[in-house]
Amino acid sequence: MAEKKEQPDASKDEPEQIVDPWRVVTTSEKGVDYDKLIRQFGSERIDDAMLKRFEEVTGHKPHRFLRRGIFFSHRELKNILDLYEAKKPFFLYTGRGPSSSSMHVGHLIPFIFTKWLQDVFDVPLVVQMTDDEKFLWRELETPDVARNLAYENAKDIISCGFHRDKTFIFSNIDYISSCAAFYKNMLKVEKLVTFNQVRGIFGFNESDAIGKISFPAIQATPSFSNSFPEIFGEAADVPCLIPCAIDQDPYFRMTRDVAPKLNYLKPALIHSTFFPALQGAQTKMSASDKTSSIFLTDTQEEIKNKINRYAYSGGGSTEAEHREKGGDCDVDISYQYLTFFLEDDDRLAKIKEEYSSGRMMTGELKRELVVVLQSLIGDIQEKRRAVTDDIRRHFMTPRKLNHKA
Ligand code: TRP
Repeated sequence: MAEKKEQPDASKDEPEQIVDPWRVVTTSEKGVDYDKLIRQFGSERIDDAMLKRFEEVTGHKPHRFLRRGIFFSHRELKNILDLYEAKKPFFLYTGRGPSSSSMHVGHLIPFIFTKWLQDVFDVPLVVQMTDDEKFLWRELETPDVARNLAYENAKDIISCGFHRDKTFIFSNIDYISSCAAFYKNMLKVEKLVTFNQVRGIFGFNESDAIGKISFPAIQATPSFSNSFPEIFGEAADVPCLIPCAIDQDPYFRMTRDVAPKLNYLKPALIHSTFFPALQGAQTKMSASDKTSSIFLTDTQEEIKNKINRYAYSGGGSTEAEHREKGGDCDVDISYQYLTFFLEDDDRLAKIKEEYSSGRMMTGELKRELVVVLQSLIGDIQEKRRAVTDDIRRHFMTPRKLNHKA
């Protein structure tokens, strides 16, 4: 495949839209322009042909996140499907920056999808908890505070249903200080990537802490299989697929740029859009604002109240106006959330038709969403209660995983 521009220079990007791991800034009222992002980043859209190939190769109907364009962009996903078809090994890598003790539904998107990919492909998964990153970037007093958040979040992640024999979750602080193979790969990346490059990709400057400047090497390293000797031994050639939100792509543009220089494989990627805040796609969801999203710790009652009170409505301002003009599904957050979580395509299409035509009122639409979210969150909470410290430690212990490779 002809490699597109892997490292666009951030300074040359048009000013109206900036997306990087720390900022999603757009002057457009419609929110992020994802087509433009694909052009800016040089990734590829997941098109119908790709979905068809996915179904042919795996025998599974594509996940609703794929059918509905939520995972919408990729790099070299085709290679992964070819490997699967040829029964060759590969692995999944994703991660989380543990910034708060409670995760919200937006944080779940990559994990719900990764769990599905793990089931479909039956491959090992590594999950990087970047407690070091959060220590460097946030007001956390000690590394231990960050590490404890990683442990708490690991329990939430386990509650998404990952396979205990096929999943390794690691705190960077713990793993890097115990695994020489991982650290050696970090060093190799740190030797090849210059300050100029990370300044171009991430916008770092001379006043940034040196820990931040070198951090991208740490997020790059799990892409290489020999960073995990307990799982892959010394094999450096097990290919990797990374599901992530598109704001993480800058890390992996950098990774794909250095990989060939190290004689390593470039990781393949599959990118999601951003999950909108309850107050609307233009506002940012924040773990500190409890009204901006639904949290895994919310009660059934809180879920209902939050949606009824805060979910931005695209409906008419009076019943008469709504019946006449209909609701706007493009901005209606309850409808948007249903596209993420309601599995039934026919039901979703019907809701869209009814709501857009004004036959369905906002209250009814919200009731649909409340039921779906209460069941999703209730299910995860039930699983979470069963995740003991021993189970968490099992997932976080470096060990051989049970996979075909
Ligand atoms: N930096 C990511 C965050 O803050 C965490 C992360 C590490 C990650 N490695 C990853 C996310 C790989 C996706 C894929 O959330």
